[in-house]
Amino acid sequence: MRIAVFAGDGIGPEVIGEAVRVLEALGIDGLELVEGDVGGAAYRKHGHPLPPETLDIARSCGAILFGAVGDFSLDHLDRQLRPEQAVLGLRRELGLFANLRPATVFKGLEDLTTLRPEVAAAIDLLIVRELNGDVYFGEKGIRTLEDGRRQGYDIMSYAEDEVRRIAHTGFKAAMGRGRRLCSVDKANVLDTSQLWRDVMIEVSAEYPEVELSHMYVDNAAMQLVKDPGQFDVVVTGNMFGDILSDQASMCVGSIGLLASASLAEGTFGLYEPIHGSAPDIAGKGLANPMATILSAAMLLRHSYQLEAEASRIEAAVSKALADGVRGGDLGGSAGTREIGDAVIARL
Ligand code: IPM
Ligand code: MG
Repeated sequence: MRIAVFAGDGIGPEVIGEAVRVLEALGIDGLELVEGDVGGAAYRKHGHPLPPETLDIARSCGAILFGAVGDFSLDHLDRQLRPEQAVLGLRRELGLFANLRPATVFKGLEDLTTLRPEVAAAIDLLIVRELNGDVYFGEKGIRTLEDGRRQGYDIMSYAEDEVRRIAHTGFKAAMGRGRRLCSVDKANVLDTSQLWRDVMIEVSAEYPEVELSHMYVDNAAMQLVKDPGQFDVVVTGNMFGDILSDQASMCVGSIGLLASASLAEGTFGLYEPIHGSAPDIAGKGLANPMATILSAAMLLRHSYQLEAEASRIEAAVSKALADGVRGGDLGGSAGTREIGDAVIARL
């Protein structure tokens, strides 16, 4: 059970440190953790945000536990050298095409959202975001037109097989939950979305128990705030999923609690908190490590089928929250280490 641990930038090393302590506290046989450099930290050391040695480590492991990347002081670099390229490169190189971002309100935390507590309390949804295609990975550039004007362009496209495989991920996820799948697109304007919708409908024939619906992305943004309890599983493209998953996290009220999985075909996956590197609080021991700890639980479940151990971690986090352990993101004062200790004590 060889797991790559890529801490990255900002609060990454602090939150990863606690998730590693939690994993070690479970006493799993054969657990081996291999560290590697990513993001701005890797750029400073090796001149690249995703050096070849890091990719080699990733390929030699069964899963990756990932902290965060991002460093404003490197934003002047060419795009391919910026910290974010570490996570984009891993997604591309390792075929991590399915991003699972669950959002649920933990009991007792209903007051933390900016929505009305009774609206937020109903949130229990999963965003399944396609991660290998779309405008993110299309041809892009800034060119000069014949009349001398500069033009920026990023081509959006989805091939049918790309849509089909994420459709299957969405339908399977819905089968394991409330059996409702909402596909989010912009088919009233985009041909890419029309194909997306057609393929979703084709694949739905294989999942007669799942109720498929479609929603335009602008309406989905509105519905997420108006009545988020209506959603079970949402499946959408890379760009729309990026935006809607941040929105969903804020509906829950606590970006410091949300974990995510980025899965390849098979059992390989990368697991990371959905929050960023939070440079403003980095190195101060203030960051809430719960999202990373919950990402470690997803890792055990999806890449190693260790359901019991995953549930132990999740129950310990819930218990710590119920007992009033709160990081700064939740209006409390518990530090990174203290929260790690509190979770470990409740395993
Ligand atoms: C995310 C992030 C990334 C993305 C960035 C860091 C490239 O926002 O994982 O949602 O846009 O996918
Ligand atoms: Mg994002």
